[in-house]
Amino acid sequence: MRTQVGIVGAGPAGLMLSHLLHLRGIESVVIDTRTREDIEETIKAGVLEQGTTDLMKQTGVGDRMMRDGFVHHGINLAFSGAIHRIDLHELSSGRAVTVYPQHEVLKDLIARRLADGGDIRFGITGTTVAGLTGDRPVISFVQDGRDQQLECDFVAGCDGSQTYCRFLIPQGAIRTDFFRQYPFAWFGILAEAPPSSDELIYAHSDRGFALISTRSPSVQRLYFQCDPATDPGEWSEDQIWDEIGARVGSVGAAIKTGKIFARAILQFRSFVCEPMQYGRLYLAGDAAHTVPPTGAKGLNLAIADVHVLDRALGAFYEANDTGLLEAYTSTVLRRVWRAQHFSWWMTSMLHRFSEATDFDLRRQIAELEMITGTPSAAKVLAENYVGLPLT
Ligand code: DHB
Repeated sequence: MRTQVGIVGAGPAGLMLSHLLHLRGIESVVIDTRTREDIEETIKAGVLEQGTTDLMKQTGVGDRMMRDGFVHHGINLAFSGAIHRIDLHELSSGRAVTVYPQHEVLKDLIARRLADGGDIRFGITGTTVAGLTGDRPVISFVQDGRDQQLECDFVAGCDGSQTYCRFLIPQGAIRTDFFRQYPFAWFGILAEAPPSSDELIYAHSDRGFALISTRSPSVQRLYFQCDPATDPGEWSEDQIWDEIGARVGSVGAAIKTGKIFARAILQFRSFVCEPMQYGRLYLAGDAAHTVPPTGAKGLNLAIADVHVLDRALGAFYEANDTGLLEAYTSTVLRRVWRAQHFSWWMTSMLHRFSEATDFDLRRQIAELEMITGTPSAAKVLAENYVGLPLT
């Protein structure tokens, strides 16, 4: 088999890249070890930046998001027993975020690729990539028990945080990994309940962080900071609701409870690998960088990466211009490190660190008071939260 761009991974980066390339007339094949059902049903975050929603609308995959998603013009920060609204819309010149789950984005992209005749191979095994430093790399894999070889011009490594592709960039001589682990995790639940708040609530408390998010009028998404070793099955529903209520302060009593039908522990890591390109291999999304979940930047960064990669590949095929491809790492890393800083900042401002002293808690409150009480500081948070424009 032969294609122009071989894409390893059918997550947000791989599927959006395949879609964008198709709109330019560039062929791709997407491979993934997971089944279509796994991809479409794995629960992830649900906040889309303005740039992500604009790109989905402009490229014809935004209809369901516009119908079923919820546009949020603000978020709330709860601390010291009170709640403070950040007007995202006003502070970021009319931008906003949309609450629409990642797996729904993936369903929309898969449906559209298949309707457009796209080639996505689910459930493959044994992926290897060879020839990256030449001009005809080959991706080998096994599909339905048969060995397949896919010759391409370029390989896009979009295979998420469990990546194989990243390790094709020789560590040390070429690749440097930047890593930070956090001493806590999030306990995430989905519950059958009405919304407790019109807009998300990020809560700081002596007991640790909590986040009130939403999915639909009848399903809510909530998270609270926990020990990374927590077994989610050990918590009763009452314990979970009591813990969340205790953390959101004065509004805690108003949290609407209901049957909890999904629970999971989300680990916290910050990671970046540099460079994001090696020979004919270009990494995008979590294969190259991971952010802690606070602020929900993961999917949005993946989309921003492939927006750049699509234009770079476009310039190569349309004008034989390699300039944007050569600039890929430096172009995307500027945004990646901004998002790393933002996610780390939101995390460190809102969570309780095990070694934290009363000094640290009071310093966090002073920072939250500065953000909520100073329009220029609130503007920095709002602009980064809704996301920098895609350039
Ligand atoms: C959600 C996840 C996040 O990490 C966040 O900051 C806000 C919302 C969510 O899944 O709804």
